[in-house]
Amino acid sequence: MDIRIFKNEAEIGEAVGKLYCDFINSKPDCVLGFATGATPVPTYNYIVEQYKAGKVSFKDVKTFNLDEYCDLPKTHKNSYYTFMLENLFSKVDVNLDNVGFLDGNAADPEAESARYAADIASKGGLDIQLLGIGRNGHIAFNEPSDEFSGESHKVKLTDSTIEANSIYFDDIPMPRYAMTMGIGSIMKARKIILIATGASKAQAVKDMIKGPVTPHCPASVLQEHKDAVIFLDEAAASLL
Ligand code: GLP
Repeated sequence: MDIRIFKNEAEIGEAVGKLYCDFINSKPDCVLGFATGATPVPTYNYIVEQYKAGKVSFKDVKTFNLDEYCDLPKTHKNSYYTFMLENLFSKVDVNLDNVGFLDGNAADPEAESARYAADIASKGGLDIQLLGIGRNGHIAFNEPSDEFSGESHKVKLTDSTIEANSIYFDDIPMPRYAMTMGIGSIMKARKIILIATGASKAQAVKDMIKGPVTPHCPASVLQEHKDAVIFLDEAAASLL
């Protein structure tokens, strides 16, 4: 793991955003895995600024997102699809036909998982997968469990995740299930970038970096990835 510590989330947004822009400019038809949550927003803001300044284009970029809630219309204001539209996709020149998403309302989650894996593979696999981390060490919606997951699948969310994400749901109760890329799908990405900011992530960050590789802290699997770069602010790094 390559661990980089920055003063605050703004500095991380610039560093990671720059890394993305440079990569897109070196490979304009690259395949990028994106993440939702508050953590990547400064990165998306930086990328949008660069796009507006004419310094990067998503014209041929292909994207895949990590996860999506189940039992929530794709266009609901809290869907992860809407999040990506609002924070990145509607603000750059990405072709929405090149935007891949898991369907949280698929009648057959197993078939949907197979479709997603095949779609990613047919585009050449993920060049870079962006990740945040949950307070319990989850990545995407891979919650702590007794074994690492493989490809995409449907998950029941834990109380910790429901508590953390419920603040965004003010009209309906937060969904209890989600579709997520599995640990196996994430580990296939050629490069992984994980961002963690804030003191609430410090324990999960410590477990991810210093603890044993265990599905009880799903992010710890990144110790075994050959090109995982971890961007931390001082608060998230405070227990290292
Ligand atoms: C959700 C998402 C994760 C994300 C995590 C942390 O559970 N499924 O992909 O990393 O929350 O979110 P935040 O960045 O808002 O702390």
